Amino acid sequence: MVTYKISGARRLCGELDAQGAKNAALPILTATLLTRGLNIIENCPRILDVEVLLDILQHLGCKVTWEEDRLLVDTASADGDSIPEYLMRKMRSSVILFGALLGRLRSGEISSPGGCELGPRPINFHISAFEQMGVVIEERHGCLHGVLEHPHDTTINLEFPSVGATENIMLLAAALPCTTTIYNAAREPEIEDLQAMLCSMGAGVRGAGTPVLVIRGSGKLRPVSHTIIPDRVVAATYLIGAAVTGGELKLNHVQERHLNAATTLLSQSGCQIERLPDGLYLKAPERPRPLGVVRTMPHPGFPTDMQAIFMTYAALAQGCSVMIETIFESRFKHVPELRRLGANIVVDGRMAVITGVPWLYGATVRADDLRGGAALILAGLAAQGETRVLDNGHIARGYQTPEHFLRLLGAKIEALEGHPPALPPEEERDRG
Ligand code: EPZ
Repeated sequence: MVTYKISGARRLCGELDAQGAKNAALPILTATLLTRGLNIIENCPRILDVEVLLDILQHLGCKVTWEEDRLLVDTASADGDSIPEYLMRKMRSSVILFGALLGRLRSGEISSPGGCELGPRPINFHISAFEQMGVVIEERHGCLHGVLEHPHDTTINLEFPSVGATENIMLLAAALPCTTTIYNAAREPEIEDLQAMLCSMGAGVRGAGTPVLVIRGSGKLRPVSHTIIPDRVVAATYLIGAAVTGGELKLNHVQERHLNAATTLLSQSGCQIERLPDGLYLKAPERPRPLGVVRTMPHPGFPTDMQAIFMTYAALAQGCSVMIETIFESRFKHVPELRRLGANIVVDGRMAVITGVPWLYGATVRADDLRGGAALILAGLAAQGETRVLDNGHIARGYQTPEHFLRLLGAKIEALEGHPPALPPEEERDRG
């Protein structure tokens, strides 16, 4: 448990390097299971979800060593074929290990995955695709056991461009001596990064970034060196940190095209945005203009992972914005917490109407999921007075020591162990 203690209303100014992308690192590290040897993964973020995945890889017999932000993953002696429930339940994306285990061993066992409570997180698209690919799947004692005896060419039509299902299919298909075609595949930049990794391992993968992916697999995938793409959601988070505190930020090593949806909204609402050779520069407006209607969509639409942080931005705009969450059923848990900081937000089903206020004021709030927690930290940075964000480890799942990087930009923020009670304001303390 952590309490982020923030003294707000301080301009964030300075320069940062973007961290490696959590949602690319997880499938990339999982893909190392398809090889037998030493893989070198560069620009890997040191975050909780990566640590959990490394625990799983070590449980399977991989040797893992950190060298700065370079990760050495030796899979030569990995011989495990099942993952215990206590590890699987620590994060949602563990479901993609099923594809990698089946790719490596032609069999594998996982239990139902965990993750943020964003609504039911079914895995029916994953199961249906694997069964079409010839995997025989049995559910027993809350675990899924799969065996693949006869790989064959398969064409899969995804009902929804699911990121995890696309990645899971890619991981299995890359290791099979046949061709798998996915229609309505997810188009996120993290899919492109996984394609690049699988190709350097020796698979023939084409089409990432488009709705049609063709994977010509190989039974002999080799260990590689791979550099993970920058994290577009973390990048947008720091850009909004500058935007809501009247500051300015130079963000290095971001791929601007991954942030298009975010930078378009930021510039349309008054931020000065400049594209640099290796990054972005943002200067905040006096006060943002409202966002209009923002609908979360699969890439290249506005990303659901940026909904919460943009809600904090909209909460301070000079007018009314509407955000519609079309991807997850229950991704507005940050709204009541933002209201405690003075935001004026009304929710009706999957729609939130945000009427901007001139300022927020500090309070104690609770992070209920990763991106909602980040939104609360941003709100605390903008708020007058002291804000405490009580967090049970959600934020550290995706953000590498945010308190450290925010202090580099001038924020007054500490990450306190546990949830110590807030002391009364100075004047009340003096009265005893
Ligand atoms: C990935 O989750 C990301 N996580 C999420 O980021 C992201 O929000 C999401 O993609 C959408 O972009 C990782 O990459 C580790 P989906 P994933 O499968 O793969 C439904 C973060 O904050 N669905 O694209 O779980 C599902 O319920 C996290 O970094 C099914 O119905 O997302 C959801 O409503 C949060 N059946 C929708 O599809 C399935 O079999 C999108 O899910 C699979 C998904």
